[in-house]
Amino acid sequence: MAEKNEALMDKIVSLAKRRGFIFPGSEIYGGLANAWDYGPLGVEMKNNIKARWWQTFVHRRSDMFGLDAALLMNTKAWEASGHLKEFSDPLVECKACHERFRAEDVNGKTCPICKKGELTSAKQFNLMLKTHLGPVESKDNEVYFRPETAQGIFVNFKNVVDTMRPKLPFGIAQIGKAFRNEITPGNFIFRTREFEQMEIEYFVPVADWQKYFEEWRLQMLAWIADLGIDKKDIHELEVPAKELAHYSKRTIDFEYKFPFGQKELFGLAYRTDFDLTNHGLDYTDDEGQKLIPHVIEPSLGVDRSLLAALLSAYHEETDKEGIRVVLKLPIWLAPVNVAVFPLMKNKPELVAKARDIFSSLKQNFSCVFDDNGNVGKRYRRQDEIGTPFCVTVDFDSLEKDTVTVRDRDTMGQEIIKISELKDYLATKLK
Ligand code: GAP
Repeated sequence: MAEKNEALMDKIVSLAKRRGFIFPGSEIYGGLANAWDYGPLGVEMKNNIKARWWQTFVHRRSDMFGLDAALLMNTKAWEASGHLKEFSDPLVECKACHERFRAEDVNGKTCPICKKGELTSAKQFNLMLKTHLGPVESKDNEVYFRPETAQGIFVNFKNVVDTMRPKLPFGIAQIGKAFRNEITPGNFIFRTREFEQMEIEYFVPVADWQKYFEEWRLQMLAWIADLGIDKKDIHELEVPAKELAHYSKRTIDFEYKFPFGQKELFGLAYRTDFDLTNHGLDYTDDEGQKLIPHVIEPSLGVDRSLLAALLSAYHEETDKEGIRVVLKLPIWLAPVNVAVFPLMKNKPELVAKARDIFSSLKQNFSCVFDDNGNVGKRYRRQDEIGTPFCVTVDFDSLEKDTVTVRDRDTMGQEIIKISELKDYLATKLK
């Protein structure tokens, strides 16, 4: 495991760019500050995270319903939810250079940029990102991009209850983009103005909120472990009452030891009946009694999941050939499942056989074909992107119909019959 320091962060950013995980946004136009684009490998990882989360928390449970609500919502929703008034961060400004900071990111009273100017006292800065709908820009057609997917869930609460007839407790899950006009985005994909969330609003009878809060706390820890994150890198912060979001009575921040400090990875909040009450929504139980369910909210960032998983997976090992960089990603998360190589690229019969195997495996797995350089170099390239298995087609493949399968973590090699290769990999990759 590489040491968690700034150098590690630089290595991750560089690997992400060099190997097609994450590129700076709008790069050919000089970039756009703190905007990032997911490349061919990054999008695979991101999709794996979202699919696994959906499978774990929606498909495998009988108390969960999915949703995909619009990003732009009626402004009245944001008035009711309290976001227009309350969704802000304390901001301080340097009186000399006028640089602005989140108050919690700076220590002391002097500007960390120009090192001269005094900082103002903190004032609240609203994080809602505004735009206009339609051809005329006026106050009347101002709308806001959602800063959390949660409100899309609350405003559809009645629709889901009327169509699905769920019994308490039940949850509504959603994955999607959220936007915040962050004062100081930064640290790669850690804090951006456009990001993706995976959120659940879990509706419970008020008397049971503590029980379900604890259940979801354990579910979140299990998910963190599933991402390949060591629990010693996680700290559960009981958010002090004065720092709670305007809707929360209790929040635990699951903090991860990022190279730039221990920071929030995910949050678990008890939102009480705050949102349903403010939207004027309720629920009728089996006895015909109207009640307002209370809400437990596990809220996870897709981008932070990916960043923490990359940092946790990054390993450097030294052997006789030098430093081996390997992403020991959980198998389900790796962007590429299998790489296929012909032993030599100048032997057409090996290349043709390898191509056949590649085409066949591609129907079931995420595969790449590589015939560049020697096999040792190809292993290194695949290790660096976390590919769990490499399949080499050699002369035995022509004579005995076998291939060599090499394991990323043990570097052990096994001879497998080509006719059994698909089943072998399917079992390993399950
Ligand atoms: N609905 C509750 C809510 O949005 P939050 O703690 O503000 O709570 C939840 O956000 C999660 O969304 C965070 O734990 C983090 O994973 C992710 N997140 C929040 N702001 C982010 C940003 N600017 N960039 C990337 N991820 C962010």
